[in-house]
Amino acid sequence: MADIRAVQWNSANATIDLIDQTLLPTQTVDFICTDVDSLIDAIQRLVVRGAPALGAVGALGVALAMVEADREGWSEQVLQERVDAIRNARPTAVNLAWGVDRVRPSMVDGIDAVLAESAAIIAEDEAANHQLSSLGADWIMQAVERRPLRVLTHCNTGSLATTGWGTALGIIRELHARGVLELVYADETRPLLQGARLTAWELQHDGIPYVVQADGAAASTMLRGLVDVAVIGADRIARNGDTANKIGSLGVALGCAAAGIPFVVAAPSSTVDMSTVTGDDIHIELRPDDEVTTFAGILVSPPEARGFNPAFDVTPARYISAIATERAVVEPDGVSPVSALVAPADPSDVVK
Ligand code: MRU
Repeated sequence: MADIRAVQWNSANATIDLIDQTLLPTQTVDFICTDVDSLIDAIQRLVVRGAPALGAVGALGVALAMVEADREGWSEQVLQERVDAIRNARPTAVNLAWGVDRVRPSMVDGIDAVLAESAAIIAEDEAANHQLSSLGADWIMQAVERRPLRVLTHCNTGSLATTGWGTALGIIRELHARGVLELVYADETRPLLQGARLTAWELQHDGIPYVVQADGAAASTMLRGLVDVAVIGADRIARNGDTANKIGSLGVALGCAAAGIPFVVAAPSSTVDMSTVTGDDIHIELRPDDEVTTFAGILVSPPEARGFNPAFDVTPARYISAIATERAVVEPDGVSPVSALVAPADPSDVVK
């Protein structure tokens, strides 16, 4: 399962082929993006989701737009507007805009150049996931004495959410490979159940011991002493270390602080946005009401009920014990600045 590919460019058909994550785990079905509209639909319905995976589809989306432009005879202005539409399809994960922006300069050199840059993004992301998983696991094994480890995670940060392997789930895979993992508490992740459906699916296939728990159980599980460390991913990390991630992550961080256990954030450096000064500057996506007033498509609230459905929250840096990227592990309140997370790789960057 670690080598599953959620996002692929199909060169024979010039399409982006996605695993439809809205249907997992009961159905494994591909969703084929043949044009910009179908890609934007896939991004907004969470057929493809997770910050690093959005970076990959942002980059490949530029190539898809160029193919459509050739087919439909778009002007340069229309092409650029459609690329902007992909870039803005979801606002919180910085990786989507980052992926588009990284390949955009290659457009003048043609589709093959855009595809080559996209392939580089995908290869770099997977390598980054392995490196940050190793660094993050090292940090946890130094910071936490108990063996074997009981780890809580929130949302899905595995192969499905990235270009392969995973971030927080990559650290969990690494701890399992090192033989020091006892159990994963996978928060279900309301309202769309990325934990109960997707994280559980990945852990099941890897033979990693886990239980799924309601999001509301997390604080109690931690205060009862059943968890040694929580590890989550990130959609955007601000310059001061404030971190946006799936709604409910802040509650996990507060629970960790109350329980006196580490709260660790794991992400590739592409998720660190040095142009966002603090978490207050992060645009939090507000999703449709019916995602919270319905369950599995069935209305569970009074028909008149209005929902409040922010997709993400921001955890202030003061509640974060460590942030791991492929470059470094930084303790935001410690001596190492967040800029080390995006600095050139140097083993001496690893701060403990
Ligand atoms: O709404 P989603 O499913 O795209 O939210 C995903 C998350 O919040 C992940 O934790 C984050 O993108 C990191 S994925 C490695």
